[in-house]
Amino acid sequence: MQSIYDLDTPHLIVDLDRLERNIAEMATYMASAGTALCPHTKTHKSPYVAGLQLAAGATGITVAKIGEAEVMADAGFTNIFIANQAVGAIKYQRMLALNRRLDLTCSVDSPETAHPLGDAAVLAGEKLQVMIEVDTGLGRAGCRSVTELIETALAIESTDGLVCAGIFTHEGHLYGSPADQIIADAASAAAKMCAMRDALLEKGLPCPKISMGSTPSAWAVAMQPGVDEVRPGVYVYGDRLQMQRGFPRDNCALTVLTTVVSVRADGVAILDAGSKSLASDSPFSDKTYGEDLNQPGLVLKGVSEEHGHLRLGNGVQVRVGDKLRIIPNHACTCVNMHDLFAVCRADSVEAVLPVAGRGKIQ
Ligand SMILES: Cc1ncc(COP(=O)(O)O)c(C=O)c1O
Repeated sequence: MQSIYDLDTPHLIVDLDRLERNIAEMATYMASAGTALCPHTKTHKSPYVAGLQLAAGATGITVAKIGEAEVMADAGFTNIFIANQAVGAIKYQRMLALNRRLDLTCSVDSPETAHPLGDAAVLAGEKLQVMIEVDTGLGRAGCRSVTELIETALAIESTDGLVCAGIFTHEGHLYGSPADQIIADAASAAAKMCAMRDALLEKGLPCPKISMGSTPSAWAVAMQPGVDEVRPGVYVYGDRLQMQRGFPRDNCALTVLTTVVSVRADGVAILDAGSKSLASDSPFSDKTYGEDLNQPGLVLKGVSEEHGHLRLGNGVQVRVGDKLRIIPNHACTCVNMHDLFAVCRADSVEAVLPVAGRGKIQ
């Protein structure tokens, strides 16, 4: 069997034992909490990984873009939630085409997003399920008040083209919650969602489901009353950002295999993986861009497009031609840089697969 170290670099590597463990742990936890799991597949963009998630008990899959939904539909997935507003005639036609093929749910967060989508559905003689997005504190899209929510729900009710499937939020602001605060913050976000649902029900408007989702808070929101579904994404792979939030280093399933192409006298090794292979997100105060899988102190102190700058020291020596495995800062943006990923057990390559949803930004 081929060794990962025989692959050309830079190459995305997924450790199958760790991936399966991450998927199983999340599925088992959600099953015991009685909360449905509809994982966000924007992290891996792979029908193969989504298939493992469904086999472990996920009820459906979440995507960010219609293009990602089309890839998953072509691969045979039948329950897809596009957790993102899609606006414009071209997008309405693509969503309606998907709706004819499978159980699709789309997103709205205002009458302005609901009305034209409803009109397009009526014209096509279709009914489209939509979830209303609520902003529980991230400060991105989503209804921020009961008034906005009710106006949006009334817009859905006013058309034969849409059916309200519930409300959803991405509580990404909980990435900033200290560990001893996460349960309280998750409870507060869940309570906001329940208050929003109750406001709809009081007006006689339907709200069959509350869906929340983010990796660091998935376990904490799942234990809150009223939360029906969670949509974590990064938990499949983990990354340095998740490690900072308590994700175990030994569970990190994603690395970029890279070759040392130059070793400088000042203690820096230059790798053939830069921002075009690892991505350039660096939410860390020390502005580092990745770290070696096997030597935690070995960090990338800089990236340019095609080069990574690895700070040596502590007696670590590398030579030109050595191959290293780097844990990226952010799995989702890193994966989106690659056409292929190799799945391996220990160092043996089991398969090389396409990142099928890569670059599907429309
Ligand atoms: C709408 C939505 N749901 C779920 C998620 C998954 O959260 P995480 O990236 O923390 O796994 C995201 C992430 O951006 C999101 O935007």
